[in-house]
Order: sequence, then structure tokens, then C-alpha cells
Amino acid sequence: MTPEQLTEQVLDAYAGAADPRLRQVLAALIRHLHAFAAQTRLTPQEWLAGLEFLTATGQKCDDRRQEFILLSDVLGLSSLVDLVHAAPGATESTVLGPFYVPGAPARAPGERLGRPQDGEPALVRGRVLSQAGAPLPGATLDVWQAAASGLYDTQDPGQPPFNLRGVFTAGAGGEYHFRTVRPTSYPVPADGPVGDLLRAAGRHQWRAAHIHAIVSAPGFRPVTTHIFDAQNPYLDSDTVFGVKDSLVRDFRPAGPQDPADVRFVAEMDFVLAAARAPG
Ligand code: BEZ
Ligand code: FE
Repeated sequence: MTPEQLTEQVLDAYAGAADPRLRQVLAALIRHLHAFAAQTRLTPQEWLAGLEFLTATGQKCDDRRQEFILLSDVLGLSSLVDLVHAAPGATESTVLGPFYVPGAPARAPGERLGRPQDGEPALVRGRVLSQAGAPLPGATLDVWQAAASGLYDTQDPGQPPFNLRGVFTAGAGGEYHFRTVRPTSYPVPADGPVGDLLRAAGRHQWRAAHIHAIVSAPGFRPVTTHIFDAQNPYLDSDTVFGVKDSLVRDFRPAGPQDPADVRFVAEMDFVLAAARAPG
């Protein structure tokens, strides 16, 4: 039997899956897996090492740690899935990451996230708009970020719950603003198999500095995205391939026209695509 004949035999064995999408995905998976093993002439030792790596990845997961998502992130798979489903003309999306916590408290316009020791005070402001440029009053922005220590509240018992997290609501003109801290770079969790992979590949562990946001409005497709700091040294080598040029903003020094309690100001408009009609 040749490798090609084996691949065809396996494809035939799965061709009866009743769900057409499952049939399509399985067939592509089998073709690509077989092509990968054939092309690299994968040895039995390498095959076993790969399975042991995946086993260790699963064993690192618990209800607070999702090592498989991290693996998908550092291989660029999460970003690829995102790109394939991008809504043209809308704000680009990027990785959700493992540190999102649903249920963050509602915050008043302009409210400050975080404590003085969490970083340099910054103001973020802009508008939420439709693709036609119409303001989307009542749109919500669920934002979260790490402190200057490089840690999210969920990683750091020294931070109060929901520190540097909050849900803001856009005003009548779609405008929003909030006070927070200028984001800083931080390393992804590297004490598991994904860290071993990064080290073996000679890659660093740093995420480009960012603020996360999920922006939603009724009748529109929500966007899960980031605001990146244009000054950050990791924009070109973000560990999880999350950076898109359209999401990079200057955190410019605050001037006399800005609120006196912030040191930096960043402006970011979010554009949402209309939700797809059901069916
Ligand atoms: C984050 O930005 O929170 C993140 C994204 C992917 C992997 C690790 C962290
Ligand atoms: Fe993050």
C-alpha cells in the first residue's frame, strides 16, 4: 500500500458522516494531517513526542488555565480563524485571550479603572459607529487590561476583583471615554508546554502592550479587539500574532486641553458591521 492509498482509505472511512460540515472538516483534517506526516517523513519517535506534548498541554488545563487556547494563539491559529471571519469595513478583531472575565461592573462615562499603582494614568476616548458612519448610542464597551506589573487581576491576589475591568456605555453621539493606565507589555504564561515550545523555537513570550475591548450594539456584530500602543517594541513580534496596523494608536502626552488627571490620551473609534440576517 502507498501513503496515498492509505489516505484515500481513511477518507472513505469518514465519508459517511451525516453532518455535511463535519464531513467537510474531517476530510480536510485527514488530508492535511496525512500530508504533514508524509511530507516531513515523521518518525515514530517524533509522532510519540508530538502526542506527549499534546497530552501535557491537556494536563496543564484546568478551570483557570486553557493551555490549548494558548497553543492555538502562539501558532497563529486563533488569529487565522479571526481573519477568515473578518467583517470588511468593520474594526478588525483580534484574540480574546485567556483573561476575559464576564460580568465586569458597569462604569460611568469617564470612570477610572485601576489604582494609582497600576500604571501611568491615561484617557481613552472615541466613538462607536456603524459602517455608514452613524453613531451607535447605547453601544457597550467591555474593557480589560493588565496592570503595569504585567498581571491581570485574576493572576494577582494583590489586585481587587475586576481591577482594570469595566463596561462603558456610549452616549447619544456614540461617544465614549474612560480613564485607565497606559498599557504595558507582559509575558504570556510560559510555565507549561507552550512555554517549552516558545523556548525551543527561540521565540520570546511577550505580548505587545494593549487594552482589550469587546464592543457590542443591538443589531450589530460584536467585535473582540485590542487597542495597541504605537510606542511598544513588541508590535512586530507579538507572541500570539494579534497585532493589526489598524488597531495601533498613539498614547500621546496629555496637553492643556486634556483632563489634568491623565498623562496620556489615546483616541480610537470602533466601527461595527450590521448583524447577518438569520438563516
Ligand atoms: C491576552 O492578551 O490577554 C492574551 C492573549 C493570548 C494569549 C495570552 C494572553
Ligand atoms: Fe491581554
